[in-house]
Amino acid sequence: MVKKRACIFISGKGSNLNSLIKRSRDNSFPIKINLIISNKVNAEGLNYAKKFSIPFIIIDTSKKNYEIKILNEISKRNISIICLAGYMKILSKRFIRQFKRPILNIHPSLLPKFKGINTYKRIIEKKERITGCTVHFVNEYLDSGKIILKKSFEIKDSDNERSLKIKTQIMEHKSYPEAIIRLFKNINF
Ligand code: GAR
Repeated sequence: MVKKRACIFISGKGSNLNSLIKRSRDNSFPIKINLIISNKVNAEGLNYAKKFSIPFIIIDTSKKNYEIKILNEISKRNISIICLAGYMKILSKRFIRQFKRPILNIHPSLLPKFKGINTYKRIIEKKERITGCTVHFVNEYLDSGKIILKKSFEIKDSDNERSLKIKTQIMEHKSYPEAIIRLFKNINF
């Protein structure tokens, strides 16, 4: 199988990055991670880039035209899919239009519920009975692109923001690779 060249965008811990790296070492997994981009110089997730010798770039988002720089780096490396994995910066419409290829994101709620930030806090406050995670295409509206996969679990009375985060992320680490496999079964690009 010829793997597609992928770039993962991160801002923080990188636990989803780690699960994608591990899965991508499997011959039958459809992507190879050729580049990691972080908008935070001290993102913990960069340690996975170093550990697995994957090229990484730290982007200074205070600089004008930083997205052009990202697009150049991505095109130099022939990247054909971007996976946002805890990248806490919104991509511009222009970036999405110019990349032209799939951009995926993972979000810690059952979209379209709880788009945006502070997800767990709002889920607890709203006394939801069920939650989970969603992998979706990125379009120009926040957390609104076509959904590829959702997984859910029941919220217990004893759950709090911390326990929800732990349970959701365990689910995310399975869901992101599964969504990528599902995507490649259905489309050719
Ligand atoms: C993940 O839980 C992801 O769903 C969330 O950030 C976390 C990153 O964790 N993303 C968003 O909230 C995007 N709106 P990680 O760095 O350990 O993968």
